[in-house]
Amino acid sequence: MPKLAVIAGDGIGPEVINEALKVLDIIEPIYRPGIELEMLPYGADHYLATGETISPAEMRRLGEEFDAILVGALGDPRVPGNEHARDILLGMRFQLDLYVNERPARLFDERLTPLKEKTTGDIDLVIFRENTEGLYAGIGGAFKRGLPDEITIAEEINTRRGVERIIRYAFHWARENGREHVTMADKANAIPAHMLWRRLFDEIGKEEFPDIHRETRYIDAMAMELVRNPEQFQVIVTGNLFGDILSDLASAIVGGLGLAPSANRHPGFVSMFEPVHGSAPPMAKKDIANPMAAILSMGMMLRTVGSPEAALMVERAIRAAIVEDRVTRDLGGDYGTREVGDWIAEWIRRA
Ligand code: NAD
Ligand code: IPM
Ligand code: MN
Repeated sequence: MPKLAVIAGDGIGPEVINEALKVLDIIEPIYRPGIELEMLPYGADHYLATGETISPAEMRRLGEEFDAILVGALGDPRVPGNEHARDILLGMRFQLDLYVNERPARLFDERLTPLKEKTTGDIDLVIFRENTEGLYAGIGGAFKRGLPDEITIAEEINTRRGVERIIRYAFHWARENGREHVTMADKANAIPAHMLWRRLFDEIGKEEFPDIHRETRYIDAMAMELVRNPEQFQVIVTGNLFGDILSDLASAIVGGLGLAPSANRHPGFVSMFEPVHGSAPPMAKKDIANPMAAILSMGMMLRTVGSPEAALMVERAIRAAIVEDRVTRDLGGDYGTREVGDWIAEWIRRA
């Protein structure tokens, strides 16, 4: 029995997770993934009430006892330093060593792209974001805080092991999933440390994946090309910060953050699934957030724990909801969060 931990989190997190679990409930008796669920309380409310973000013991338990973790979003204006989100969200990525951040962007319906006549409609790409180092490592500090010559330093970490494993994963994924093409984005022209990425990308590509076509782009040109001609990309591999930015951009060309799911993985170990979006505090408790990113993230979880038919059904239901305009206002509809979840659950039940 796969064990799933759920952290609904802050803002719209609990609302979108509620819909993802509603859909999982419908799926359970039909496809029998046999998922055993445990709800965990971590988030801003828990932190403000108890002073605890997440304990080291609980973090260990997540790694040892669970197959998957489903997260809503973390971030709350009452915690301006965002320390709970860093401990919980970045904590899971770093401490559980979930080095692959897989962020697909697929156009479900041509009406969803703001690019309109600029695209053939064939947008289907996956970003593999390095998830454990880069500028997110938190190495650095502050000096002379509050003084006119205050200094803050953040160092970017790129290890051979870290860069190699995400590049290798992206190539491997491309081959296993019938893609011919991998693009790497870096800033080696201004940041010499990024030559490590270029060197390893070429070495690994040439020696281990000669069947996959490879190309490199500087991140600025990559961002431009992603808007100008997104169909050219199949698999993108990049560092932590660039991957964060590109994944919001990629979501926008296929309908927005409300539709963007993600997986955080370390093959053979626990995986964590979450929408790419955040807690969107102004939208919280209004029944207006799009739950599709959370539902699709739950679908990615189903595929990972061995229920690919159920995962496919989730994707088909999302597409059907979009085609029939059973969508929230970010996609131009007038459905509420719960109505979208109800409609998708009912579609799966009837299919
Ligand atoms: P955000 O993703 O929460 O919102 C950005 C924009 O996208 C907003 O305009 C919002 O209206 C829209 N949006 C997001 N999710 C949506 C949905 N499901 N349906 C419809 N529209 C949606 O990003 P932000 O405003 O920069 O950050 C808010 C908080 O979330 C911050 O505390 C941030 O640190 C946190 N955050 C958390 C995560 C995470 O937990 N994985 C990711 C990103 C941001
Ligand atoms: C994301 C988020 C996080 C990140 C924040 C909340 C730390 O933006 O998951 O994309 O930057 O990774
Ligand atoms: Mn982000």
